[in-house]
This record gives sequence, C-alpha cells and structure tokens, in this order.
Amino acid sequence: MQTEIIQEGSTKIVVPVLEKRANYPPSSAPVFYNPRMELSRDLGVACVAAFAGKRKLSYVDVLGATGIRGIRIANEVGLEVAINDWSQQAHELIVKNVELNRSSAKALRKNANVLLSESYFDIVDLDPFGSPAPFLDAACRSANKMLCITATDTAPLCGAHRASGIRKYGAIPLKTEYHPEMGVRILLGAIARNLARYDKSMSPLLSYAMEHHFRAYLAVEKGAAKSNEMMKQVGFICHCFYCGFRSWKYGLAAHVPETCPSCAEHISLAGPLWLGKLHDKEFCKLVLGELGSRKLGTLERATKLVRLCAEELDIPTYYDLHKICKELKIAPPPMNNVIEALRRDGFKSSRTHFSGVSFKTDAPLENVKEALCR
Ligand SMILES: C[S@@+](CC[C@H](N)C(=O)[O-])C[C@H]1O[C@@H](n2cnc3c(N)ncnc32)[C@H](O)[C@@H]1O
Ligand SMILES: [Zn+2]
Repeated sequence: MQTEIIQEGSTKIVVPVLEKRANYPPSSAPVFYNPRMELSRDLGVACVAAFAGKRKLSYVDVLGATGIRGIRIANEVGLEVAINDWSQQAHELIVKNVELNRSSAKALRKNANVLLSESYFDIVDLDPFGSPAPFLDAACRSANKMLCITATDTAPLCGAHRASGIRKYGAIPLKTEYHPEMGVRILLGAIARNLARYDKSMSPLLSYAMEHHFRAYLAVEKGAAKSNEMMKQVGFICHCFYCGFRSWKYGLAAHVPETCPSCAEHISLAGPLWLGKLHDKEFCKLVLGELGSRKLGTLERATKLVRLCAEELDIPTYYDLHKICKELKIAPPPMNNVIEALRRDGFKSSRTHFSGVSFKTDAPLENVKEALCR
C-alpha cells in the first residue's frame, strides 16, 4: 500500500495515497481514508473537548481505519484513547500512526461488537462506512457518558430507500421536503430506543446533516427514570403530501389522525422517531469556543454550521421557501424578510442548518402562506 503523511488539526497521519480520479470511492483504498470528512473530524475534536472539559475520560473509535479520529483526540484533546479495527492492514496503519505521534493511544484489533460488548468506555465513537445499525446495540451498552455516531446511509434514513430504512431502524421514514431532518430524527429515535434497553437515556448535544452524512453527539446517562422521560420524546410525524400540513404526536402508542385536518385527504405517518431537541445551546457555545481556540482546516465552515445549529428552533420539521412560493406562484422573497414577517405576526421563526432555502417556524402553514402573499 502506497502511503503519504498528511496533517489535520495539529496531528500528522500516515494515510493511503488515493487515486485522483473523480468519484473514486475512498472505501476502495486498502485502508479507508476520506479527506472530505475533515470537517467531521475537526468538529469531533471540538465536541469531545467541549464535553470532556478538564476530565480525563476514556474514548474509543471502534471503527478506526487509519486511526485518524482517535489519534487526533489523543493529541489534541488529551484523553485516554483506544482505536480499533478488525482489518489487519488498518491495524498496522493505526500502530504506525500511534508511533509517528508518540501517542499513548492503544491499538486494538477486534470485531467492534465484541469489543463494545466486553468493555465500557466513557465516549464511544461509531464512524462506519454506511449504516451504524449493526453496531448500535453494542455501542449503547458500552457508552457510559457520550455517543458520537455517524451514518452515511442517508437514503434509507430519509425515506428514499424506505424498505431498507424500515429494516435497519425499525421505523418508517417519509420522503418529505425536510428529508435530512427526517433522517436525523429516525436515527436518533433508533438510538434512543436502543439506549432504553440498558436503562440509559440520551440528550442530544449537536446533531447535524452535512453533504452525504449525518452525525450526532449525544450525552448518555444511566437510570430507568431518565430513560422513561427520554422515551416520551419519541413519537410520530403526520405529514399530508396533498397540502403540506404536518403535525407530530409524542409516544409509541400515539393516536394519530387518518385524514388531514387541513384538507381531509389521506395523511401519512413517519416514525417512531425522535421529536426532542437536536442540539444543546450551551454545548454549542462551548464547541464554538473550542473551534475558535484551535488551528483547524475547516474552521470557517465548522463555525458556520455550529452557529446555525445553535440558532435553529427546536421544531421537528421545516418549510422549503421555494416549494411554497412555487405553489403560490410568487417569486421567493429574501429569507430574512420571511423570518421577520413571521416574527412580527407573533410566531417563532429561524433559519435551519439543514437547508439554505428553508426556515423553521411554529406558524401553521396557512399563516406562513398569508405572510408570504402579503
Ligand atoms: C468508514 S471506516 C472508519 C473511518 C475512520 N473512523 C475515519 O475517521 O477515517 C470503517 C472501518 O471499520 C472497519 N470495520 C468494519 N466492520 C468492522 C467490525 N465489525 N469490527 C471492526 N472493524 C470493522 C473497516 O475495516 C474500516 O476500516
Ligand atoms: Zn392536507
């Protein structure tokens, strides 16, 4: 395997030399390495640092590949790190990277599910190629304080590959105009139900969709009472594909309407999914502080993303401005004007990190249309 040394953050890493062909999938290199995930890794460093504070927590990247995530956490945050991968070539590269960085990180070579089932870690990072579903149960069992989870199977989660979403996550996704948020909420709903098996609960700290992946940072706690409270935030979204009406119902045995309360047509159902918060505003502030105090290749984009997350409303869906304006046969007004108009009408409204042409609001669709046509 041909390798080269690259630098991310303040860490040097040996990685496989990738072919320069367009659309060359990083998964076809002998050891997985995707330079386009630098933002995800920069944010990983900032989020884990913000969460740990001065505590010396244990951290594992169970699907380590080159070991880049774990080595960066050891170097740039100073936690007690383990990096695991069952592939021999990956393991050898992890060992090389530990040596290159004179790191105290431990290199392991186990089946991820075996490792997670036989040991506990404060922070479990699950960064698979594709779906995290095969590892969710063991990760929920192992994590004492925090879960960091990536999903790149956005099509099943968003409803584009519905049957696969149902199989992997035990939930029904719908392909709506807010599909990335639907995907993140289906993923979080599955994690919440999995944690509940172990009398654990989660509070989302930062959960986002970016290009072709989702990523969630979740604070984890042990305790049946908190787990029960968490489960109350799992429920269903009712969506009308005829008029755009949507509502949500909390609970696994929620009573949902069969027809749309707005246009009386058939209403569709998505879930069970997570209806609670996606981010913790105080945590986002800490992450912004961590980003600002570090030399990171993606600083600007990462900061913009976390700011948008911190400012967006805690409402489970959003509206696509262009879609509504097309239906109303009007030119889309500037986004800020729409948000201001809704606020003047007494509603809450914000941009969303999920889409640059969309907004969140607690205003019913009728009021949104009225504000747009004024
Ligand atoms: C997407 S890569 C990880 C990327 C890495 N975390 C990063 O930031 O670059 C997934 C890795 O998981 C490893 N893997 C897949 N299934 C595994 C299993 N059941 N146990 C251990 N490793 C596994 C693969 O060998 C591959 O190296
Ligand atoms: Zn309707």
